[in-house]
Amino acid sequence: MADTTKTATLTLDGKSYELPVHSPTAGPDVIDIRKLYGTAGVFTYDPGFTSTASCDSTITFIDGEEGVLLHRGYPIDQLAGKSHYLEVCYLLLYGELPTAAQLEKFETTITRHTMIHEQMHNFFRGFRRDAHPMATMVGVIGAMSAFYHDSTDISDPRQREIASHRLIAKMPTIAAMAYKYSIGQPFVYPRNDLDYAANFIHMCFSVPAEEYQVDPILSRAMDRIFTLHADHEQNASTSTVRLASSSGANPFACIAAGIACLWGPAHGGANQACLEMLKEIGTVDRIPEYIARAKDKNDPFRLMGFGHRVYKNMDPRATVMKESADEVLELLGVEDNPLLQVAKELEQIALNDPYFKEKKLFPNVDFYSGIILEAMGFPTSMFTPIFALSRTVGWISQWKEMLNDPQNKIGRPRQLYLGSTLRDYVDIEDRG
Ligand code: CMC
Repeated sequence: MADTTKTATLTLDGKSYELPVHSPTAGPDVIDIRKLYGTAGVFTYDPGFTSTASCDSTITFIDGEEGVLLHRGYPIDQLAGKSHYLEVCYLLLYGELPTAAQLEKFETTITRHTMIHEQMHNFFRGFRRDAHPMATMVGVIGAMSAFYHDSTDISDPRQREIASHRLIAKMPTIAAMAYKYSIGQPFVYPRNDLDYAANFIHMCFSVPAEEYQVDPILSRAMDRIFTLHADHEQNASTSTVRLASSSGANPFACIAAGIACLWGPAHGGANQACLEMLKEIGTVDRIPEYIARAKDKNDPFRLMGFGHRVYKNMDPRATVMKESADEVLELLGVEDNPLLQVAKELEQIALNDPYFKEKKLFPNVDFYSGIILEAMGFPTSMFTPIFALSRTVGWISQWKEMLNDPQNKIGRPRQLYLGSTLRDYVDIEDRG
């Protein structure tokens, strides 16, 4: 916990209470209200956690006003430009960039854990063949706790490490298998001679009759998508993982909880929802109709892939993702694809519209990642699983940090109760 050098004073019913203030290494100070209920007998109220820090952390820093995202102090654009996903995984997990020897050892460990237990294949077959790959992933990742008993004891640091490596290594295999199952193709086993991203593309697009030749530009773009989604501070799914883990649940169960939370369209599901919206709009001339709907208070429609709780200037991940999208579209020669035309036009119209400007709604990472994945040939249902596999390292790093924190306690928010006060039970025959 950071040093307390300042205090805040709360005055309530004529009495004053001194509250410690902690200063972070970067970002706004936090008022420590942990003893507030004990001393003043009140709770704070912050639905949606818009002004609440739920933990201390040394992993990721975001300055939403300035559009800054740092992992362990390193800016996301430098990591996306100079590093690669497995190196970023090491950085997030262990706090420092690896030496060449450390990186080689880490990559070998991850590569050697990519296969899943053969018996786990039976789980996939239990799902309806048209199951959404996210549904399959929630189930199969949760089911890992039924297989890997040697890495569920969270009090053992070695078991925690093995669970971390297993999850990072097996996520792409499980995501690719969920996809293959949903399209009725045989599962494709991982290949150890390919890098992490190329291996994932191989498992998604190869078939026994024909090996898919992975273009290095595409595997680089895939790796960048993984890197840009690797961690994002205390977002909804990460907070879900932390809350699930605070009860002492095993890592596979906690990550399954994170995947479930990520699935929603306000979070990781936005990439699928965004592409579906672009398809629904269909042609450039229909964009104004959808912009009008997004502005209409009585219409629940929102422009998917726009807006962010924290970023109010620009999403720094989107800036890098946009460059990557241009590269991929050029390589694949699909710049004229009507869907992509709609995306480009929508981006321009929304960026110049007073409503979006005033509310500081910019295209977020999911707007451009969907465009890249669509161009690469992934169906929209695979967009969120790809986000989930990328974010696994962030979830795991935050989980690991939390378990090492001596202040770790079960998460137990309170509430502002607005229901009935005490009343007596009424027998059924006496109810009006
Ligand atoms: N289209 C139209 N209006 C919007 C949008 C949008 N996409 N997003 C926010 N607004 C309006 C909203 O109606 C509200 O207006 P008012 O103040 O008049 O009531 C104002 O902007 C603030 O919105 P909010 O819902 O209070 O903001 P929030 O911080 O609770 O929500 C968000 C953030 C990302 C859930 C929201 O912007 C949204 O639903 N965006 C679309 C979904 C999306 O793209 N999500 C991916 C986020 S990035 C990846 C990730 O983190 O998973």
